[in-house]
Formats: sequence, C-alpha cells, structure tokens
Amino acid sequence: MSTAINEISQSQSITDEQELLELESKYCSWGDTVHYLDPPKFFERAEGHYLYDREDIPYLDLQMWYSASSFGYGNRRLNEALKNQIDKLPQLACQYLHSEKVELAAAIGRLNESKFGLEGRVHFNVGGAQAIEDSLKIVRNATGKSLVFAFMGGYHGRTLGASAITSSYRYRRRFGHFSDRAHFVPFPYCFRCPYGKKPEDCGLYCVDQFAKNFDTEYNSFWDAKAGESEFSAFYAEPIQATGGYVIPPPEYFPALKKVLDERNILLVDDEIQMGFYRAGKFWAIENFGVEPDIIVFGKALTNGLNPLSGLWAREELISPEVFPPGSTHSTFSSNPLGTAVALEAVRMMQEENYEEITQRKGAYFLAQIRELQRRYPKVIGNTDGMGMALRIEICREDGYEPDRELTDRIFAEGMKGDLDARGRRTGLVLDIGGYYKNVFTLAPCFDMTEEEIDIAVELIEQLIRRCAPARI
Ligand SMILES: Cc1ncc(COP(=O)(O)O)c(C=O)c1O
Repeated sequence: MSTAINEISQSQSITDEQELLELESKYCSWGDTVHYLDPPKFFERAEGHYLYDREDIPYLDLQMWYSASSFGYGNRRLNEALKNQIDKLPQLACQYLHSEKVELAAAIGRLNESKFGLEGRVHFNVGGAQAIEDSLKIVRNATGKSLVFAFMGGYHGRTLGASAITSSYRYRRRFGHFSDRAHFVPFPYCFRCPYGKKPEDCGLYCVDQFAKNFDTEYNSFWDAKAGESEFSAFYAEPIQATGGYVIPPPEYFPALKKVLDERNILLVDDEIQMGFYRAGKFWAIENFGVEPDIIVFGKALTNGLNPLSGLWAREELISPEVFPPGSTHSTFSSNPLGTAVALEAVRMMQEENYEEITQRKGAYFLAQIRELQRRYPKVIGNTDGMGMALRIEICREDGYEPDRELTDRIFAEGMKGDLDARGRRTGLVLDIGGYYKNVFTLAPCFDMTEEEIDIAVELIEQLIRRCAPARI
C-alpha cells in the first residue's frame, strides 16, 4: 500500500472528536450551513425524535431535519420499506419503469383529483431545489415567459434557478447577474406588516397593492392591448418556512388567487417544507381554499430516507404533447429506493388520520408556547402555529424589536446537552429562521405525546431562564 493510501485508510477509523474537527476544518467545504455553530456538533445516532451525540447524550429534536423526518427517525415501517427495496430492486436507470414509481405518481395524482378536482401528472427528482428547477421549466415551456413573482421572505432552494426566486440577496450576491430574478412581493407577515397596517382593519391592503400593478401598462406589469402580463407565475409557500413559519390570514390566498386568475398568472405552490401534514393537512395550501396549478414537494415524502422530490402539474401544463420525453432529467430522479419509501409513506398517510393527529397535537403545543409567551413577554414577542408548524419569535424587552443575539444564545445553549428533562440529562435541537433570524421554527415529530410536548416546553423555558435571566 502506498503511503498516501495508507494515510487515507487510517483516517477512516478516527474517533477523537478534536482530530475530526481539524480534518473537517481543512478538508470539508464550508459552503454549506455547518459552521453556523462553533464548534460544529457531531451526532452519532438517531431514534424517534431524539438525536444522540458521541457521548450518547439525547437531544430532543424540535426541527426534525427541517421537517424532512416528520414521521420519526428510524420509523420502523418506512425503514422496512427501504430495506425490502434494497433486496428487491435497489438500482434502476430512470429510463425504465418500476411499479413503485407508477403507483406513487398515481396515488398523488388521484389525491389531487379528489382534493382539487383537477387532473395532472407527477414528475420526480431528488432534492427540493431540483424540483423547483423542473417547475420553472414547466412554467417557461407552457407560457414562453421567464419572469415570475415570488414573496419577500420566501425560500425555494439554492441552485441558481431556485436562488433567483428566493428573496435573500445574500444567496445571490457572489454568483453574478440573475436576469430572471423574481419580482418579490411583500408576504402578509401581519406581526410585522410591511405596510405598517393592523390585520383587524387593513382590508387586505397588501393584495390591493399587488393588484394595482396591473392597472395600467405604465406600472410595467401588464399590456392591456394584448391582455397579457410579463409575469407567468407566482411562486408561493402557503406558510413561509425559512422565513419563520409565517402564517398568512385565511382571506389572503383566495384574494391573491382572484388577481392571478384575472391576469392569467399560474400559482406554483411550494410544499417542500409544509407538505405532508406539517401544517395539519396533506398540502398546506388546503388550509387556504385555493387550487394551485403546480405543487412542488420533497423532504418528508421519504421521511428523509433516500431523497425524493417532485412536482404535480395540471394536465395542460405537463401532458406529453407539451412537455415531451427528455424535457428534464436527473440520473437519480425516480430512484427505486426513494419511490418505494415514498409509496409506503403515502400509504401510511392515507391509513392513519394525520390530519386529526397533527391538528390536535399542534393545538396542544401552540397553547403551551402561548402560555410561555404570556409568562415571558420580555423575551417572546409572537407565537403562532398551524398543525405542527409552530413559531416562537424572540424579541427585546419591548416584545417587538427582533433579538437575534438572544436567539443565537438560546440555540447554542440547547446544543450543550446539559438541560434537565425531568431528571434526565438532555439537549434541545432548535432551528432558527425568520426575516431577522430571531424565530424558532418548530417542526416536531408527529409521534410526540402530550407529555413529551410538555417536556419540550419545559426545556425551552430552562433555556430562556438561563439565557435571559434579567428579563424573567
Ligand atoms: C419551502 C422550501 N422550498 C425549497 C427548499 C429547497 O429544498 P432542498 O433543500 O431539498 O433543495 C426548501 C428547503 O428547505 C424549502 O423549505
């Protein structure tokens, strides 16, 4: 064995954490999100809604891989589906068919027929951003236009195409000119209304403002003679995920959809984070009573096992006549391990009453964090939730100014792994989102019991008391 190979094989058995961190620091790209915590944290195993570190200390996870593992780490039924597929048909080029792909597409297609009364087809890919790319192709192909609307605070992924419709300039700054950058529209983030209005009496001012863009051709959006907009679609997360689990008022989407229909603009519903019951319904958009033209999904479809994403589009946008073979493709797009787990997950979602489960447990959790807000008004400025997507917005003493610094401290303190869960040493895994990076976006595991929710809230309270002793 040459010296170089010898060194590589030796590096495979390193157990010392400090040594691993040094290697990571030298050999791993820092381009991902790992270095948000210093030093970055290692985990060794996962079970249910706990992650275990290298000393086997459990960390209660309230973010579940950004909602990709909603059904619990190591979910027996889904793991079994993966294992069976590994023994049966683990690999297959996507140019051939396998039954799981077809059954999965049919299950999602039929579900949408029953929910929206619309016929459509499903196209698979691997990651969320890739499915967003596919949806952009479908929109461009069907309309011949490349400009779209998207929301301020929206997040659709970090490929170049997805970055162009994601609001943060931070994600684009280093990467040149984005000629197809979306036109970003204010989201109804009523706690911090971009127009300074109050939801009680605003009369959906934000929708009116959007609609006004089409009043005359000189507003730059609309050619009245041709009856055409320069924009083809509106990309929307029904509940903003990375934006801080921001829930719009119930009247918002119906009013927006009316404007879009009048102007012949497609509605693309990004369900990558909120789909599959995170927000109490199979699709989060079902909470708002509008029918999308395209739905993009990913994450929890396979419970975070072999990745699979995809989109559903109305038949006239995706039929083989308009979107023929070869229009888009990835080697791994409908990989058999992913489709097998996803098929089992969709069957599980149809057999179990996840609507009832997520709405009941979510309401219980929300009541607890509202109580926490009542007790700590100088720390928590806003709480909200829909299904098991919940938000805690950390603010300064006035209950409004965002307190990013305290949010970071609470997050880091949870990662120390020395909280007291009724006598058991535990850590707490939280995720930070929000326009000001001051929101804990909670995506708890659907299997949590009420008692476990109580414990989770006790742990959050311990963190508040440790990190903001002067404000309690
Ligand atoms: C709403 C939404 N869209 C798109 C994406 C991108 O998905 P992926 O990270 O799998 O590319 C995410 C990821 O967090 C998301 O939350």
